[in-house]
Amino acid sequence: MAITKAVIPVAGLGTRFLPATKAMPKEMLPVVDKPAIQYVVEEAVGAGLRDVLMITGRNKNALENHFDRATEIESTLAAKGDTEKLRRVMYSTDLADVHYVRQGDPKGLGHAVLRGRMHVGNEPFAVLLGDDIIDSRDVLLSRMLEVAEERGASVIALLEVEPSQIHLYGAAAVEATDDGDVVRVTGLVEKPSAEDAPSNLAIIGRYVLQPEVFDVLEHTEPGKGGEIQLTDALQELAAESGGPGVYGVVFRGRRYDTGDRLDYLKSIVQLAVDREDLGPDFRAWLRKYASTLANKPKAGETLDEPGVGA
Ligand code: UTP
Repeated sequence: MAITKAVIPVAGLGTRFLPATKAMPKEMLPVVDKPAIQYVVEEAVGAGLRDVLMITGRNKNALENHFDRATEIESTLAAKGDTEKLRRVMYSTDLADVHYVRQGDPKGLGHAVLRGRMHVGNEPFAVLLGDDIIDSRDVLLSRMLEVAEERGASVIALLEVEPSQIHLYGAAAVEATDDGDVVRVTGLVEKPSAEDAPSNLAIIGRYVLQPEVFDVLEHTEPGKGGEIQLTDALQELAAESGGPGVYGVVFRGRRYDTGDRLDYLKSIVQLAVDREDLGPDFRAWLRKYASTLANKPKAGETLDEPGVGA
């Protein structure tokens, strides 16, 4: 069965980004000139998934408005004949067929995904985390959809990280398969210490799931951090004897975690330097600015930045 639905959980509290996320979801933070969520919806649509269900929480208005008409802005731009800005504002309105359901209490990613059950029904579907951006020049989701269809199994995205970073992710124990970029998952642990991690393969925010995951999530108990963890449900599917199991696609491309403040800053710089419109000027400025950092004064002293600025 062709996979057509994407579930995007955006109900997390985004506490790492306070106070920016006090009244606005972190998925609406701009990455260059688009909110993070727009990159994620563009990725889903690019992989053929136009039916998008967002699992929202409080402060959902900004998200809904972003994927809706903005008639006042549109008519002002139309009256001015500013077709380029008009195209930019209307693009996200027509991008996908977006639906919304509220999570209620943010009880964890597994709980958020379970809220998609009514909409998804008995079909395989994709899950994309709204604060995780995959560079559009690198292939991940379409490869995962292919593997899920070939094997009839759930598929997760894995990225090799430094051992010191694995405690921030779910980690996978894996076996090789005949496909170089595909592994069979034999076990999963949510946010293990470096010593307890079965590998340095971290679960990142893309999943293609079989609908059986909903039955498992119905009885998944709160795990790490007191949250209902999707990783724990997938561990159960991976361990099920006679089931299709869980596979991983090992991603070697560029991924930007916009939910973490430092990674967010890096994401903006990395994406901006490659932009055709802003890139040339930004690169020139950045080179100059970086050269001043070699002489960066110690904390408390004023940074003299000759030649750097607007
Ligand atoms: P995170 O753990 O990154 O989100 O969840 P968070 O809880 O908002 O982050 P911090 O630690 O407080 O800053 C991964 C994804 O799952 C969603 C989040 O919105 C994010 O896209 N999520 C998480 C939910 O939709 N509901 C939840 O209960 C938890």
